[in-house]
Amino acid sequence: METQKIDVKDLQKAADLLLQGKVVAFPTETVYGLGACIFLEGAVEEIFRAKGRPSDNPLIAHICDLNSLDQIAQDIPDVFYKLADFFFPGPLTLVIPKRKEVPSVVSAGLDSIAVRMPSHKTARDLIRLVGSPVVAPSANISGRPSSTQVSHVLDDFSGKIAGVVLGEASNIGIESTVVSLMNGKIEILRPGAISQEELETCLGQKVSVFTPDKDFLGPLPSPGMKYRHYAPHAKVQLFFSMEKAIKAYKKGDLYHKVMILSNQPFEKVESFPLTMNSFYSYLRLADKDNYQEILIICDEETQGNKGLMNRIEKSAGL
Ligand code: TXA
Ligand code: MG
Repeated sequence: METQKIDVKDLQKAADLLLQGKVVAFPTETVYGLGACIFLEGAVEEIFRAKGRPSDNPLIAHICDLNSLDQIAQDIPDVFYKLADFFFPGPLTLVIPKRKEVPSVVSAGLDSIAVRMPSHKTARDLIRLVGSPVVAPSANISGRPSSTQVSHVLDDFSGKIAGVVLGEASNIGIESTVVSLMNGKIEILRPGAISQEELETCLGQKVSVFTPDKDFLGPLPSPGMKYRHYAPHAKVQLFFSMEKAIKAYKKGDLYHKVMILSNQPFEKVESFPLTMNSFYSYLRLADKDNYQEILIICDEETQGNKGLMNRIEKSAGL
């Protein structure tokens, strides 16, 4: 199949493909999404096939306004509206009770649905043209770094999906914060651009963070957490001090091609900046240019960014 490259001015073309049950990638402010119409089961199944995504990992429903909420969710707790009022549209995903009309393939059999209203205008315009919520995981082959640019989407899906909307690079660069509001709890399932502190300030109460310990045997509240994510082929090593990183670099095999991600100069060796909106691009570049190792130096500022630290640790397989 030829993947149509759709200009933002021709958004109706992308909406038509989605309404015909096809899969179309589109830009959001966090990362690119791989979209399908929420009520077209075959299209949703196609997303799982194209990504090689395990069927027990549920998808996020993207909405353009709160009017479409009643089509997909029920018994919505008050705290949802408090958070939505403050953070929608934006990089926050809220998990609430699902309506049974939503195909169970969307939420991998769970009785909840993850909902997000992107702040990216093209994404919202597209959803509006479709007329119903659009489900979209990050547009990457399962387990690989997410896509923040059209070229990343084409590298993974050219010839495998019906179309891609030609947007600009995602300006946030890591995925949304996922918060579960199920069973009267408020729990962060995946850290992201919106921090625990921001959520607590908005709500005026503590918000917990779900951290599965090693012996946790029960079903995970967010199934995506059990899979290895955001991993390049290169071996990723993390350092919290420049001295240790330099030592490791000097001890290393000189025949290795090493990429250095650091916000401070790294001796006289070329390094790339470690920022939220360039991280995935460098992981992908490392694969393209056959780097064998990536040394990541996490300064204090990086360590304070829980969303970015989570992605860095996962890329290292931690
Ligand atoms: O920023 C984002 O969230 C991007 C853009 C495209 O919107 N999307 C994204 O989707 O990151 P994905 O599929 O790569 O990650 C969705 C995460 C997974 O960890 C999944 O397990 C979790 O959300 N999730 C989805 N539905 C859930 C549910 N009903 N209950 C708990 N976790 C859920
Ligand atoms: Mg993903």
